[in-house]
Amino acid sequence: MAEITLQNIVKKYGDGFPAVNDVSLDIRDGEFMIFVGPSGCGKSTLLRMVVGLEDITSGDLLIDGSKVNDLSPKDRNLSMVFQNYALYPHLSVFENIAFPLRLAKGKHDEAQIRSKVENAADMLELREHLERKPGNLSGGQRQRVAMGRAIVRDADAFLFDEPLSNLDAKLRGQMRTEIARMQRRMGTTTIYVTHDQTEALTLGDRVSVLKKGVLQQCASPRELYDQPVNLFVAGFIGTPPMNFLPAEVRGDELVLPFSTVPIPPAVKERAAGKDLLIVGIRPEHIKDARLGDRPEEAAAFSAVVDVTEWLGNEQYAYVPFSVEGDVAHKLEELDRDLDGEGMRTQMVVNLDPRSRILEGDEADFVFDPAVMHVFDPEGGDCLTRDDAKAAEIAQQSEADRKRALERARVREERPVG
Ligand SMILES: Nc1ncnc2c1ncn2[C@@H]1O[C@H](COP(=O)(O)OP(=O)(O)OP(=O)(O)O)[C@@H](O)[C@H]1O
Ligand SMILES: [Mg+2]
Repeated sequence: MAEITLQNIVKKYGDGFPAVNDVSLDIRDGEFMIFVGPSGCGKSTLLRMVVGLEDITSGDLLIDGSKVNDLSPKDRNLSMVFQNYALYPHLSVFENIAFPLRLAKGKHDEAQIRSKVENAADMLELREHLERKPGNLSGGQRQRVAMGRAIVRDADAFLFDEPLSNLDAKLRGQMRTEIARMQRRMGTTTIYVTHDQTEALTLGDRVSVLKKGVLQQCASPRELYDQPVNLFVAGFIGTPPMNFLPAEVRGDELVLPFSTVPIPPAVKERAAGKDLLIVGIRPEHIKDARLGDRPEEAAAFSAVVDVTEWLGNEQYAYVPFSVEGDVAHKLEELDRDLDGEGMRTQMVVNLDPRSRILEGDEADFVFDPAVMHVFDPEGGDCLTRDDAKAAEIAQQSEADRKRALERARVREERPVG
């Protein structure tokens, strides 16, 4: 059990470049915390500082209230799982898992070691593989062995650095569920690094989004999705990504590429003096007007669909538009920051699979302007963020987390059979 507190943590490598820049975070006891962000944003560096593999340039790291900056990794009692598993090829699965227990010489007798290893093996479905060598196992099984080794010792927290990135998509999905279940069951504080936002959203109680060493937002997945603080977070969280459209301010209206909508009341004051804003609309918030689920205050527009992709359970339509001037620069920059994941000059619409819109059609769409996000192109701040609503979501998520932990605890106490 541990609370991990980061206070103004900075890491500068030899060349003076701040790989992590003034990060402050409170990781709660039993919490599943995610560090996510594009390649090079400092996720691994931050994790390695927590576990003690990397010196902290400035700032304080506290575990349960005590400063541990100068403690060696073995004195921090944290358990880390690496991307490449780092298994010993000449040892059996049993001995690989038992390794940290044997390392703590004399602390556990043979019977205790056997019981702990078998316990972990049961949890990870490795029981029938205990006598095999890692070389003969599949990628997913090796990953389980690495996790087994991490969980046998009673560590105060688990740290994972992209543990699933070597697995294929299907296995990754399975292991993701396993990790979630295991974490809830054990109730151990966990920090998990990934650049995969699906992993971030599905696993995290809270997710810390990093960009170039700077923490952008730390919040529950729902809050990140519904109430992002800026363009970067809004663009990073969600697949397909949020659409960003240039919005010209004209009086009380915003002129978008396909339609004109009233300026949201919350934005009016904050946007005073600006003639250009960026509007963000999630792909699922734009609907085929012909299907009839038209929101009350709907904005309607028609546009020519370039390509459609039908996937059975959902369908995407791509609608190109042109962007010029300042907004074009801003969106290009955003695209670079996000590792170029988004195509910023076409709108993606996540249509109902029943929709019969076809490539080349001029189709009618509707969306509810109330779900638009509005961003300041300078700095990228989200002007529609509602702090009160965000606080409500945060409270709800924290209550959900506590309930899940409590449920897992009760389940553990109940005798089997
Ligand atoms: N040992 C090192 N010496 C100098 N610079 C380093 C070192 N390790 C990392 N960096 C730099 O620090 C920054 C953050 O690196 P880090 O490995 O923490 O990123 P990351 O978010 O884990 O990226 P990835 O998703 O690619 O693993 C990068 O700019 C990287 O080049
Ligand atoms: Mg990394």
